Amino acid sequence: MRQKLLPLLLMLFTFTACQDEFEEFGVLTDELDETEEQTTISVRPHLPDEPYNYANPLLPNYFNAPPIQGQINTPDNNPVTDWGATLGRVLFYDKNMSANNTLSCASCHQQVAGFSDPLAFSLGFEGEITGRNSMGLAQAAYYPNGRFFWDERAETLEDQVLMPIQDHIEMGMDLNILVAKLNTLDYYPELFNQAFGSEAINTQRISRALSQFVRSMISFNSKFDEGMANLQPGQNIGNTPFSNFTGLENLGKVLFFSPQTNCATCHGTTNFTAPGARNNGLDLVYEDNGLGLVTGNPQDNGLFKVNSLRNVAATAPYMHDGRFATLAEVIEHYNSGVQPHPNLSPTLRVGPPQGPNVMPRQLNLTQMQKEALVAFLETLSDEVMAEDEKFSDPFSE
Ligand code: HEC
Ligand code: HEC
Repeated sequence: MRQKLLPLLLMLFTFTACQDEFEEFGVLTDELDETEEQTTISVRPHLPDEPYNYANPLLPNYFNAPPIQGQINTPDNNPVTDWGATLGRVLFYDKNMSANNTLSCASCHQQVAGFSDPLAFSLGFEGEITGRNSMGLAQAAYYPNGRFFWDERAETLEDQVLMPIQDHIEMGMDLNILVAKLNTLDYYPELFNQAFGSEAINTQRISRALSQFVRSMISFNSKFDEGMANLQPGQNIGNTPFSNFTGLENLGKVLFFSPQTNCATCHGTTNFTAPGARNNGLDLVYEDNGLGLVTGNPQDNGLFKVNSLRNVAATAPYMHDGRFATLAEVIEHYNSGVQPHPNLSPTLRVGPPQGPNVMPRQLNLTQMQKEALVAFLETLSDEVMAEDEKFSDPFSE
């Protein structure tokens, strides 16, 4: 739906822009910002009188115990509050956040798609394509090193959320212009007051509110979580069949957590993530070196963030460049396609964990085992989250 609407919206905008400020449009972001300063969309958000509960969701016990507890990256000075996340929700869905009022964060992070984008590369505010695949946002609060983006270039979520706003392809805004623009919208003063105790709008508050909303996106209502409720203390997740799972899903679960596949060595814990970037052997020579581009260290080439696999069935296409359209293709990669890159992670190798003679593992999975792994990954889908009003667009009717 969004993909069909977007070109139309852009055409409409181009048409209006052509009439009065043709030379300015799309030339320099700075100039564009000035011309757009006065132009806003003035639809008001529909919000509940009492805020939704973002601060204290009723999490299952295993969220409040190690190792999950130790993964939390929420800083002491920015805990999630109900009003803070409410403001974050409005900002997240507000198209006024982009230079030409065409895109919000949600344009590339769609609730029905696990807060990712069905396009391999998202379209920015002027229709240009982004350099990487948009990322699902569930469990952002639980990435242990607290770094964000595929190449982990953002040190904190508070830093990260301001980057797409200023990115010249994504939203094309200047932060000072953004603050001025939000000041012209009559629904913001009250929202900032409720969230932070005064009506002042500034960059730090925008960053904090957006981060609170993103951190509140915690998935804990999947079929997998229902199964976890049956697990007795001391029982092993991999080997204990879940009574609500089909035979195929249970087989997939055994395989996922077994040394035969090693999936859980990187997609570990019940949040299915790792404490840092890894090389999973997508290419022998990477076009995009991920973490290596950020650190300049050749030993980081081809390392990418291990984003949580929660809701993964909804976040297609897969990997930093969206190269795989389906989960079956992902499984086939690990089964037979892992490349002998010098930085390939030890758990995807045969033989010595380091050294020049890299031998990728071949999993030799049967057709049924491959289907079982896909079936297991599908149990991580959270329908409650996909429809929950507290994460939905407040500007829609
Ligand atoms: C034009 C599309 C687009 C828009 C608009 C957009 N994003 Fe993104 N987002 C992406 C892409 C693409 C990536 C991955 C980029 C990379 O890794 O270099 C990403 C990554 C992220 C991540 C990192 C997730 C992780 O686990 O590391 C977060 C958080 C995020 N975006 C939040 C936001 C917020 C908040 C906004 C609005 C202020 C926003 N995005 C606007 C496309 C977009
Ligand atoms: C050595 C660590 C490692 C192992 C082992 C591993 N993965 Fe991954 N996985 C990654 C990394 C890193 C990425 C992201 C790579 C990229 O985008 O370039 C990823 C991406 C994925 C994705 C796509 C996620 C997305 O949002 O696009 C899926 C699905 C996945 N892995 C499933 C599996 C399964 C199933 C197994 C076991 C057969 C497995 N992984 C084994 C590190 C690993």
